[in-house]
Amino acid sequence: MTRSIKPLVAGNWKMNGLKADLAIAAEVAKGYDATLKPNVDLAICPPSSLLFTATAALIGSRIATGGQDCSTQASGAFTGEVSAAMLADAGANFCIAGHSERRTLHGETSATVKAKAEAAQKALLVPIVCVGETKDEREAGKALAVVRKQLRGSVPEGAGAATLVVAYEPVWAIGTGLTPTAADVAEMHEAIRAELGRLVGKQAAAGVRLLYGGSVKPSNAAELMNVANVDGALVGGASLKAEDFLAIARACAG
Ligand code: PGA
Repeated sequence: MTRSIKPLVAGNWKMNGLKADLAIAAEVAKGYDATLKPNVDLAICPPSSLLFTATAALIGSRIATGGQDCSTQASGAFTGEVSAAMLADAGANFCIAGHSERRTLHGETSATVKAKAEAAQKALLVPIVCVGETKDEREAGKALAVVRKQLRGSVPEGAGAATLVVAYEPVWAIGTGLTPTAADVAEMHEAIRAELGRLVGKQAAAGVRLLYGGSVKPSNAAELMNVANVDGALVGGASLKAEDFLAIARACAG
């Protein structure tokens, strides 16, 4: 945790959720009480089909919403794409950019991720830029170098604390139940903060929220959130259960 930064817990629903599942968001809103609100920000990133209704359902709760991806393009003949302005128009505040599932399953390069993050910023969304190494890269001792390189390629120039969130998500920890040790997370988050300092300036970097993501659940959240330079979590599977998401939020609120 970084004392001066209000943590953020963001739920990434991935390709899950029909209208009926907005009950999850409603339950999260109910549990996001006066003890939590001052100490942790929450965001839910539903599939884009639910973004408008999810945002409407969360009005008054102070829970933000976000898209999971956006187009690099502003508008036009790009069948199937959703622009950042459309996400903003549907009520989103955030947009995930460069999730490892996009990088691996859709071949997104860091240059693409950067263009998406910039498109998000242009639409006044805060991009949650994801970085993380594969299992092979970690075993080869290349995790830090890989993540630094992804950051250099993916972070928009001139991004400041208010306009950027970075999520460290080791690919091998996503949806597997595996997590890095607290020491490994500490080492990586310190390296990310330092690299961001070189990219956007030390002062701006000091205020950027650095989330950890990858198999965060109620049972490991407190340990992970207590690591230096961890300012919240990006939560996949556990964000689909209101009770678990709220337990992670409580762990993050300290
Ligand atoms: P997980 O996913 O929490 O299910 O591991 C995290 C993510 O992909 O953002």
